[in-house]
Amino acid sequence: MTRKIAIFDTTLRDGEQSPGASMNTEEKLVVARQLLRLNVDVIEAGFPISSPGDFESVRRIAELAGDDATVVGLTRAVAKDIDRAAEALKYAKRPRIHTGIGVSPSHIHDKLRITEDQCIERAVAAVKHAKSYVEDVQFYAEDAGRADYAFLAKVIQAVVDAGATVVNIPDTTGYSLPDEFGRRIRYLMENVRGIENVTVSVHCHNDLGMATALSLAGVENGATQIECTINGLGERAGNTAMEEVVMGIKMHGQELDAHTDINTREFLKASRLVSSITGINVQVNKAIVGANAFAHSSGIHQDGVLKKRDTYEIIDPEEVGAGKSQIVLTARSGHAALKHRLEELGYELDKEKLDKMYDAFLDLADKKKEIYDEDLESLMNESHRNEAA
Ligand code: KIV
Ligand code: ZN
Repeated sequence: MTRKIAIFDTTLRDGEQSPGASMNTEEKLVVARQLLRLNVDVIEAGFPISSPGDFESVRRIAELAGDDATVVGLTRAVAKDIDRAAEALKYAKRPRIHTGIGVSPSHIHDKLRITEDQCIERAVAAVKHAKSYVEDVQFYAEDAGRADYAFLAKVIQAVVDAGATVVNIPDTTGYSLPDEFGRRIRYLMENVRGIENVTVSVHCHNDLGMATALSLAGVENGATQIECTINGLGERAGNTAMEEVVMGIKMHGQELDAHTDINTREFLKASRLVSSITGINVQVNKAIVGANAFAHSSGIHQDGVLKKRDTYEIIDPEEVGAGKSQIVLTARSGHAALKHRLEELGYELDKEKLDKMYDAFLDLADKKKEIYDEDLESLMNESHRNEAA
């Protein structure tokens, strides 16, 4: 059996921080229901001290989730944040407080303006304070991707000793390369005492378009939780996209020694729901859930897919709730695709008629972006009229 990788969804917290993506409590509850249908392990529902609305969202999502998922409230390493998160999670069946502090030179010296020792003291105090409320405490080492290895290990050692149950290693700025990020995780696995008794989580941003690759490198090197969002929503260029990283694990489970318990057939529904609630469109060529993710338009590809789907498709679209592959008719399509579509419309043509029809089709296709069924029907009617004349 491969290792179970927990899926920690942060659409409602980090995703919602994306400009224009804010959601009210009712909208967050609708998304949370879909996250439960996806069977995520953990839902980060919000940042309770940030606003009364976010406090209420965390409280209501904790009630909704019951035993079905762990519900998380985010805090800074500040006592009043932790008190507020604990209150929002008071009735949760599986509460988790997620607290943390910046650990890179830029966070320590420029943002927080403290010393390394003070950083560790604050981290430990926050974990201990959170532990006074809940058993399950996750610590995030913000900007871990740019932190000094030895200092990062020192902070993680201190919070593990203080009782953290999960340690989150974020690449907050999406700066890392996958190999290096993997080495960073491996270094922690080899240099922090007792790390095998806690969950190591990765939380990667997409500034260089590598969030999914970074998360998988983390898993290859020992991480067993991935933080991600639907459609990769999130600050700046976004977070790791859940649909990508989960399908990556599904396709390469043996090599990664990993699996998830996600119900992948709910992905397209989840993607459309989040897009319609936030008003943020999904790019057409987005992996897994983009409108073109299973569409084939060139003749060579169409011919291959029509003979055997996996010639050009590594995932069965039904597996992600996307129905069937689409054969899109354009000026780049070949005879095979035209014949296939005409047959679906009920027209069986012999070779000579198909060749004629293909010439007429190309004439029209050069003038239009895409040829639809109505266009084919009118081409067929025209050819019947010509035959009758
Ligand atoms: O990107 C980040 O470092 C975060 C933390 C708050 C976990 O979102
Ligand atoms: Zn983040």
